[in-house]
Amino acid sequence: MCGIIGRVGDGNAIEPLLTGLENLEYRGYDSAGIAVQNGSGIDIEKRSGKVEELKESIGEPLRGEVGIGHTRWSTHGPPTDANAHPHTDESADVAVVHNGIIENYAELKERLAANGYEFTSDTDTEVIPHLIQYYLDADFGSERAFRQAISELEGSYAVTAMVSGEHVLYAARQGSPLVVGIEDGEYFLASDVPAFLEYTDSVVYLEDGDVVIVDETGVEFTDLEGNPVTRTPETVDWDPEQAGKGEYDHFMLKEIHEQPTSLAQALEGRIDPRRGRIALSEFEPGTFDDVESVQFVACGTSYHAALYGSLGLNQAGVQSTALLANEYSVVAPPVDDDTLVIAVTQSGETADTLNALRQANAEGARTLTVTNVVGSTAAREANDALFIRAGPEIGVAATKTFSSQAVMLTLLSQRIAADRLGEPPADLESLLPAVESMPSAIEEVLATSEAASIARQYDDSQSYFFIGRGLGYPVALEGALKFKEITYEHAEGFASGELKHGPLALVTPDTPVFAVFTGQEDEKTLKNAEEAQTRGAPVVAVCPDGHPAIAVADEHLSIPDTDSKLAGLLANVQLQLVSYHAADLLDRPIDKPRNLAKSVTVE
Ligand code: F6R
Repeated sequence: MCGIIGRVGDGNAIEPLLTGLENLEYRGYDSAGIAVQNGSGIDIEKRSGKVEELKESIGEPLRGEVGIGHTRWSTHGPPTDANAHPHTDESADVAVVHNGIIENYAELKERLAANGYEFTSDTDTEVIPHLIQYYLDADFGSERAFRQAISELEGSYAVTAMVSGEHVLYAARQGSPLVVGIEDGEYFLASDVPAFLEYTDSVVYLEDGDVVIVDETGVEFTDLEGNPVTRTPETVDWDPEQAGKGEYDHFMLKEIHEQPTSLAQALEGRIDPRRGRIALSEFEPGTFDDVESVQFVACGTSYHAALYGSLGLNQAGVQSTALLANEYSVVAPPVDDDTLVIAVTQSGETADTLNALRQANAEGARTLTVTNVVGSTAAREANDALFIRAGPEIGVAATKTFSSQAVMLTLLSQRIAADRLGEPPADLESLLPAVESMPSAIEEVLATSEAASIARQYDDSQSYFFIGRGLGYPVALEGALKFKEITYEHAEGFASGELKHGPLALVTPDTPVFAVFTGQEDEKTLKNAEEAQTRGAPVVAVCPDGHPAIAVADEHLSIPDTDSKLAGLLANVQLQLVSYHAADLLDRPIDKPRNLAKSVTVE
């Protein structure tokens, strides 16, 4: 997730471009840059760091009526000045900003390099200006060169480009958002409406396959071949102050609703549907052949994702354990060079997790981090990294990053098992289509959830319990953590079979029990839920329609039927919504719960 902005009009473009980047910083803040037409060429200013730092580094005032800008959340290459957008060809005749992932960038790069084009960054984006330049060199003309280059890209993109000396912006959308803002004589392109709300409230939402050409006379809407398409402007009624959250009251709710997109982005290019296998191209074939055992280390929500990954790996036949990173120095089982230690950390900066990672490195284990932040300390210090591409998460309570971590760990576990055992796990074939349909399954949960009314129904309870078995257990722990974190009410998660070993003493009519059903020994979980119900506790079953638990439970939160390795993650979305609405009823500061920080850099 990155933010892009483009502007054509009278007067200097710098201010609207920088304002746009500041308004889009919630989409990425590890690097920023702008490019403007100066009358005789293109001026570029870009660097790693926040937009504020970019502003400070623009010494001599830049001028130009046409320009583009970008705020980056790295997916290919760490956040360095060279990797910041805009990217150009060697002579800076073409400047490009891009949001998304170009899946075939390696092939394109090889082809262009063989033709003498020199690359200066680690990004996938840099192939685009070179490809446009390649066709300009072949006398295609700017518009045709842009269309031809776009037609060769595979993956997802929102792209905006300009060619030196022209008062024109070229843009295309496929799988990543792009909107057009229209004001008298002034036009904008952006990843999202807040970018230009100070300037206009007239907006066109582009569709996949659209190509637009913008100059001072207006906007031409076409398809890739150049055929006109009709796109109608809408007026948005948003307060610029609030706009980063879009239509949502809180970033947490926005991020819960972003999960279909963030997950689709995480999965992009990582499953090879033709060959029915996992294509984690970060890892060479056979990378995990020698792995004897795996230790996951993490804290908080990331620990719950790690536990999810570890249980999945055990089920796939590889010995694995999940450990709290802050306990690791005291309780870690021995490691050797056949042990893989996987540090799971959204931020990549959690001190406890970094300590465990460093200990594992020092003791000679192989290490890998699963993180959201390219260029983070964990990504730099682990031997390998797998990026979850969830985009920045602003709400302190982790939501979309948990889903992306857990799904990527599910894929990674299957891949480790396939390498280690010499053949893909037996159920991989049925798992992969289910993984691919997770974004749409989450969309269904979000569209139909009754979580708000359940939260209202139990809003004066004394304690809230969450139970689950197998892969439902980490989900129960996560449900309880989210609930206590943002409502300040007492909540606990248990393995459902553990209720009868003590916690049942706490159960009363004032302690609703949320039971997560994943298809793994559900009849036992149902029995455990009934044991609580017999003691007066209301039971909320989180399960697919038609499930036997519905007849027993007091309430039902529905999830689409899916593979048992993924069902818990759909249940988790329902539980995120319950926590959110319960906290909202209590008027809690949901995005910034008391005493907590997004990144915990102390032990
Ligand atoms: C809870 C939450 C925390 C983090 C934990 C680890 O909603 O966000 O429990 O999961 O502090 O943080 P990372 O993943 O950055 O290592």
